[in-house]
Amino acid sequence: MSSEAPRASRIGLAGLGTVGAGLLELLRAAPDYAPDGRRIEVSGVSARSRSRPRQADISMLRWFDDPVALATAPETDIFVELMGGSDGPAKAAVEAALCAGKPVVTANKALVAEHGLELARLAEANGAPLLFEAAVMGGVPAVKLLREGLVGDGVDSVSGILNGTCNYILSEMEASGREFADVLADAQRLGYAEADPVMDVGGFDAAHKIVILAAIAFGGAPNFAAAEVEGIEAVSRLDIQLAAELGYRIKLIASAVREAQGARVQVAPALVSLDHPLARAGGALNALFIEGRRTGRLYIQGAGAGAGPTAAAVAADIADVAVGTVRRPVFQRPAEGLVRLMPGDAEATMSKVYLRLVVRDRPGVIANVSEALAKASVSIDSFLQHPVGLTGLVPIVLTTQAASAGAVRDAVEHISALDAVTERPRTIRILRG
Ligand SMILES: NC(=O)c1ccc[n+]([C@@H]2O[C@H](COP(=O)([O-])OP(=O)(O)OC[C@H]3O[C@@H](n4cnc5c(N)ncnc54)[C@H](OP(=O)(O)O)[C@@H]3O)[C@@H](O)[C@H]2O)c1
Repeated sequence: MSSEAPRASRIGLAGLGTVGAGLLELLRAAPDYAPDGRRIEVSGVSARSRSRPRQADISMLRWFDDPVALATAPETDIFVELMGGSDGPAKAAVEAALCAGKPVVTANKALVAEHGLELARLAEANGAPLLFEAAVMGGVPAVKLLREGLVGDGVDSVSGILNGTCNYILSEMEASGREFADVLADAQRLGYAEADPVMDVGGFDAAHKIVILAAIAFGGAPNFAAAEVEGIEAVSRLDIQLAAELGYRIKLIASAVREAQGARVQVAPALVSLDHPLARAGGALNALFIEGRRTGRLYIQGAGAGAGPTAAAVAADIADVAVGTVRRPVFQRPAEGLVRLMPGDAEATMSKVYLRLVVRDRPGVIANVSEALAKASVSIDSFLQHPVGLTGLVPIVLTTQAASAGAVRDAVEHISALDAVTERPRTIRILRG
């Protein structure tokens, strides 16, 4: 057996922003990190602006104005897409690379969540791997864990904290007692949140990620259109305080639950019991809780973003392709015949719920609320009332026993119709323990 390292693998790198620069730095520091000792070299680069000052010296690298030309260039062994965006140049270049039979590594969750099935078909038809470890949880190898480590198990559910910006904002709201808008403005000033924060605080970034995890966990095609998405904009300081009094912390939880015919994929704020591991992932951390049929409960946590962690995940995929260990379908089953995961009846979904109302202090009001709940067949689990304030208004918090989404909606309608209730009750689901 020869002890010589195999021929170098050459990557065409499109995107030289946070992650692209992180990857160039990783390759500069350790070009031979691949397990068989081969060098990973950069054959060409592409980005929007050639003249933009960059951390890394790219003067010796071949420049491509057009990422599609880079993707299909003869010297590109592996195309690495780090531009972002579900459509436009990222999609065009990834498609072109796959059509040319070139392996693709991407960190682009929007692209994979929204066009995963078409791309998987293209990849498999052309015998080209398509890998995206960095697209979910940055440096935490969640995709590998589900795709490889748990392939012998049946995963029943995956739930996690998949957006660091939201987790940071909620953690800060809790620690400082400030409102959402105030903390968001600070986070934008400090660079923890984008100038346009909608993708993050609206829950869409987390939705892209959980849609991808659901596809891998349950062996289906990603179905972004079927995900139910609610962000953290309506989470108030009052709800955070009241939840804490009841022994919970409010987190933006992305969850995918296997159902008889498909899966329910949801992103929404949830009350997480303080003794649940997901409650302990603070700041900008990402965390994932998996329930496997045989493996039981698994928990992983780590840096979900940032140049170093994300580049390390990209580098792991590049090494897998270069060394030749990738032989599996993109989403656990051959793309031909893969079905988009569809949710069952949302109305029938059972969960415990936190219900917060503000009422005028009047005799009989508690009895009226209890009656309204009973009429909808929703049972109370716990109850919290604060002393009457100067305004004569009292916040009341109930947690319910497990009830169907339909029954909770009926209960909210009945309660809203009561004279003493001043605003529509706020409901937040409680994550199963
Ligand atoms: N940042 C993270 O921590 C992180 C974590 C996980 C996954 N990701 C994913 O990784 C990808 C890259 O993220 P990033 O944070 O590195 O983004 P970024 O800092 O905004 O960098 C984007 C890069 O792509 C180039 N680019 C953008 N639009 C282009 C276009 N139309 N044509 C050619 N080049 C274009 C930009 O060129 P210029 O430099 O010339 O402007 C820039 O170099 C995204 O899919 C993102 O979702 C990021």
